[in-house]
Amino acid sequence: MSRPLKSVHGEWTSRWAFILAATGAAVGLGNIWKFPYIAGEYGGGAFVLVYLACIFAIGVPIMMAEILIGRRGRQNPFNSLASLAEEEKASSLWKYLGFGGVLAGFLILSYYSVIAGQAIAYVPRLLFGVFEGVTPDGARNLHLALIQDPEKLLAWHTLFMMLTMLIVSRGVQRGLEKSVRFLMPALFLILLILVAYAYQTGVYFNQAVTFLFKPDFSRLTTEGVLTAMGHAFFTLSLGMGAIMVYGSYLPKKASILKVSLAISFMDTAVAILAGLAIFPLVFANGMSPGAGPSLIFETLPIAFGHMENGAFFGAMFFLLLVFAGLSSAIALVEPVVTWLVENFEIKRLNACIWVGILVWLLGLLSLFSFNVLKDWTWLDMTAFELLDYLTANIMLPLGGMLIAIFAGWTMSQRSTQEELGIKSYLIYHEWRFLVRYVTPIAIFVVFVSLTGVLDF
Ligand code: PHE
Ligand code: NA
Repeated sequence: MSRPLKSVHGEWTSRWAFILAATGAAVGLGNIWKFPYIAGEYGGGAFVLVYLACIFAIGVPIMMAEILIGRRGRQNPFNSLASLAEEEKASSLWKYLGFGGVLAGFLILSYYSVIAGQAIAYVPRLLFGVFEGVTPDGARNLHLALIQDPEKLLAWHTLFMMLTMLIVSRGVQRGLEKSVRFLMPALFLILLILVAYAYQTGVYFNQAVTFLFKPDFSRLTTEGVLTAMGHAFFTLSLGMGAIMVYGSYLPKKASILKVSLAISFMDTAVAILAGLAIFPLVFANGMSPGAGPSLIFETLPIAFGHMENGAFFGAMFFLLLVFAGLSSAIALVEPVVTWLVENFEIKRLNACIWVGILVWLLGLLSLFSFNVLKDWTWLDMTAFELLDYLTANIMLPLGGMLIAIFAGWTMSQRSTQEELGIKSYLIYHEWRFLVRYVTPIAIFVVFVSLTGVLDF
């Protein structure tokens, strides 16, 4: 299979458009909902340090690998991998890596939508002042009332899936560029307001900073290391082909190194700000850092319920979170949709309808795992926990490892050097060293240590 000269599905209007879209894919529930609660569950400091190390030593080089494969192949992940493998005279089996990515995107979106649905529910709740003057117990009970009501969750999950598929069916570039340009700065601003509010808690703010940044390695478990590494992939949208698809629209002259660093910085900044907004509230209200997936829904309403204009800021915040979730959800289905459209000549609209219905159905499993199927566990995990674990901790790192091996070992130095266009000998070889050795070995070691064979 040869590769087309230009992307078959158009190009971003500029390097900036790509950065905005990829940042839209990266910044999402992962930063604001997931990062704080897993940092809380795994004890803070040391976990955050491992997470940051994974972002820059594993995440950035793999993001560069994904973008370069996408841009050089210029098609959906299957075809890009197939044509590049052919060009390098490598096995055609590489294209099946695309399947793993499509499947991971599918599974992730199914539960992502259920959580994003909860964020939608919080928009009217805040707007109508439901949380005014709320106590920690009150906030907790209000969240419980939502997740224990399958009908409500179902309505919001359905709405979120419909919005996602509506946007995807109209083609990604048109809407995405404009919305991200406005939404990201707005989200950033409200986060800053929240951090400023949290700062006023004084001693609790300091306690939160200590919790988040002072590493206490005695609290770090193997499971924590795996979760930190998995989250680096999840939060940067790596290991499943989303960034590869977006990279296929990237103009040739853009520097892959610079865009990767920019996206990773922005994503990390949002996660850290979310942590700084949430943990002071946790400590000031005597709540538990390990509250799990309900953490933001139980803490942030307390802040909004007590600050001036809290109803407005709160509604805006959750609205922006929903938009951030939408721009990530789009990236989760884009690989499967472009694949169906390009390889089977299925109309974009039809592909969206079928994919949407299947993901929605699968989402019911996570949805009910918060209420009627709560006791339905396997390996001690509910359906939601299992899907999250399987995708973020196993599938994405595994996909990332194979992508690194493809870019570092299967592709020739000539190809990657040409595509990355890095002039500095040192920087290029540092990247190559990271994708050839550091990344695959690190992921492999973490996986093996999980089996208990390695003990640390
Ligand atoms: N990066 C997104 C987030 O942090 C989630 C995501 C994962 C999006 C994988 C696309 C692909 O919320
Ligand atoms: Na993210």
